[in-house]
Amino acid sequence: MFFSFDKNPYLYISSAYSLIYMQGTKSPINKYFSVFSFCSSMASPVALGSWMVLLLGLVIAISTTRVEAARAFFVFGDSLVDNGNNNYLATTARADSPPYGIDTPSRLPTGRFSNGKNIPDFISDALGSEPTLPYLSPELRGNRLLVGANFASAGIGILNDTGIQFINIIRMFNQLEYFKEYQGRLAGLVGKDKAKRIVSDALVLITVGGNDFVNNYYLVPYSARSRQYSLPDYVKYLISEYRKILLKLYVLGARKVLVTGTGPLGCVPAELAMRSSNGQCDSELQQAASLFDPQLTEMIKGLNSELGATIFIAANTRQQSNNFVSNPGAYGFTTSKIACCGQGPYNGLGLCTLASNLCPNRNLYAFWDPFHPSEKANKIIVDSILSGSTDYMSPMNLSSFLALDTNTRT
Ligand SMILES: *[C@@H]1O[C@H](CO)[C@@H](O)[C@H](O)[C@H]1NC(C)=O
Ligand SMILES: *[C@@H]1O[C@H](CO)[C@@H](O)[C@H](O)[C@H]1NC(C)=O
Repeated sequence: MFFSFDKNPYLYISSAYSLIYMQGTKSPINKYFSVFSFCSSMASPVALGSWMVLLLGLVIAISTTRVEAARAFFVFGDSLVDNGNNNYLATTARADSPPYGIDTPSRLPTGRFSNGKNIPDFISDALGSEPTLPYLSPELRGNRLLVGANFASAGIGILNDTGIQFINIIRMFNQLEYFKEYQGRLAGLVGKDKAKRIVSDALVLITVGGNDFVNNYYLVPYSARSRQYSLPDYVKYLISEYRKILLKLYVLGARKVLVTGTGPLGCVPAELAMRSSNGQCDSELQQAASLFDPQLTEMIKGLNSELGATIFIAANTRQQSNNFVSNPGAYGFTTSKIACCGQGPYNGLGLCTLASNLCPNRNLYAFWDPFHPSEKANKIIVDSILSGSTDYMSPMNLSSFLALDTNTRT
């Protein structure tokens, strides 16, 4: 949209920690009403009547457009996009303690695995809406349901057996069940037809898959999945299961879905610390990502042509990440290897806690913690999703995707 970024980073993974952006509720109608009263006070008495009719029509037209312009936003996936659902669950995969959230206005943790905003937050900004509330948040009720909801849960994967060590997390099938439940609540608020339209006009983001490698296949040597499948076969299996998930989203009414790849799995500080002896990206995990991401893009192409419409767009985060990891300086980072918050080599071991090393300037680090990008990196990622060229976005970038229906949306 605003930034002409065409290069980018990556991401990836999940494990531990959230945010509460208490933004004021926007009230465009009030704003337009004050414009209206200002204008009418300037009109002559004779013309006042017709001016009022005209202006009133204008006000209604503008406020309708404005209200509808903030389309709903639904988020599914893992810790890269979790806005705090895990705070409500008995799991170790949480980001609810300091210094998580240190660069938010309150400086308090919220459950987001970031020092500040995460990927969904920057997308909400671009949509002109408030950040999505975690589906499990008691604040998600009444008119706030119209903003959308975030169903993501740190630690989950495409497969049910991914992240079992985190015990109580919202697995993918469960996130979809919650989406259905949400739609029932929304219909209770605005009626069935309107609810359906809100869902079909909405933007959906899904980010999942990294944990199926990091917290499953490669979690321990000789893991069950790695004994069952060679890497190429495992990737095929993941893609076929992911396809089912995307079709379920479609069946549940989603019509605009942004799907992100896994990013540079082998290059995150945690993997540099645990699997690399010389500071090079781990080749096995990099190979996993290089198999997964292109097949995901192909699968999505196939789905779109089967459904006869562009329902899904894919972010090629791997392509984006190569630039980012190999040339951090070009993005204003001093390092893409060392996490801002952590301990051990590359600050890549364990969790980010108050006892960890903490860098003074988070904007200089591509990684906030051993697995997750910093707020600044998240911004760069979203800029590329919004306005990246077709090298990064397939078949089109998010700005173009959203523009497809701006004239037909009711
Ligand atoms: C995950 O578990 C749910 C509930 O048991 C089941 O319906 C679903 O098919 C499972 N998914 C996979 C990929 O095995
Ligand atoms: C995003 O997509 C639109 C439409 O395809 C295009 O005009 C724009 O140039 C794209 N952005 C970049 C940076 O390529």
